[in-house]
Amino acid sequence: MTMETVAVLNQKGGVGKTTDTINLGGALAEYGRRTLLVDLDPQGNLTSALGVDRLSGELTLTTAMLNGCTAEDARALVHQHSDGLYVIPSSLDMFSLPRKLHSERAAHERLRRVLRHLDDAFDVCLIDCRPGLDVDTDAALYAAGSIVIPVDVDEFSIEALSLLLGQMQTLADELEHPAPTVRGLIINRVILPLSAINSAVMEQLKGAGVPALAEVPIRSILAEARNQRLTITQYAPKSDVARLFRDLAKASGLVA
Ligand SMILES: Nc1ncnc2c1ncn2[C@@H]1O[C@H](COP(=O)(O)OP(=O)(O)OP(=O)(O)O)[C@@H](O)[C@H]1O
Ligand SMILES: [Mg+2]
Repeated sequence: MTMETVAVLNQKGGVGKTTDTINLGGALAEYGRRTLLVDLDPQGNLTSALGVDRLSGELTLTTAMLNGCTAEDARALVHQHSDGLYVIPSSLDMFSLPRKLHSERAAHERLRRVLRHLDDAFDVCLIDCRPGLDVDTDAALYAAGSIVIPVDVDEFSIEALSLLLGQMQTLADELEHPAPTVRGLIINRVILPLSAINSAVMEQLKGAGVPALAEVPIRSILAEARNQRLTITQYAPKSDVARLFRDLAKASGLVA
């Protein structure tokens, strides 16, 4: 595959996966990378934050994964948000995806089979995963060459990280397929000065053997951008967080 496919994954809820996917994607598009964002979460937060309609009916990402799809179908799933930034939206039928995938053979291959049709159309594909670890997130890990892991700095973050890294290795062993490379952590919603607990967690995260690609402070402007259906680099290009997401794009190794 020439498209770099990256899963944005942490089974812990509310750690900033969707915010990071949108804004890293926006920064990559600004750098001229043809960027595809895949909303693999039935909550559809990425889809609505970018003002894209959920898909419904016969052709959705869910049906494409369950029934297979042609290259033309795969292209029809893609919606253009802005210059260089594209979205495969979520759909309500995605709530049943894990349950239905469980009874399919080679369930973990299903996302890769859909995305392979789009290989020539995009440089980077970021997959926004739902919280949790199940067969659908396995499919994201199988489709991805690498992952980035958004984390927050609360007391359960280290446990969540080691569970995730362990699960990735278990899956790789089971499928006899190499585990995706871990590009690094995005440490979200950092409040300075750090409390004693947060600072202990920060030390542990930085000592976990995974590079920290960025520390994103709490900024209400991120919610404002979301409200305007824009990425932060589009909404407030000169803000400190827009610069931070550009730096993240470079630190992630995804800028050509
Ligand atoms: N740096 C930040 N500053 C302020 N608010 C933030 C920041 N990052 C994320 N948030 C807010 O925190 C909430 C959770 O973020 P987000 O939806 O990105 O997390 P998530 O990991 O995708 O959640 P889920 O596990 O439900 O998919 C959102 O309301 C988002 O706007
Ligand atoms: Mg999310």
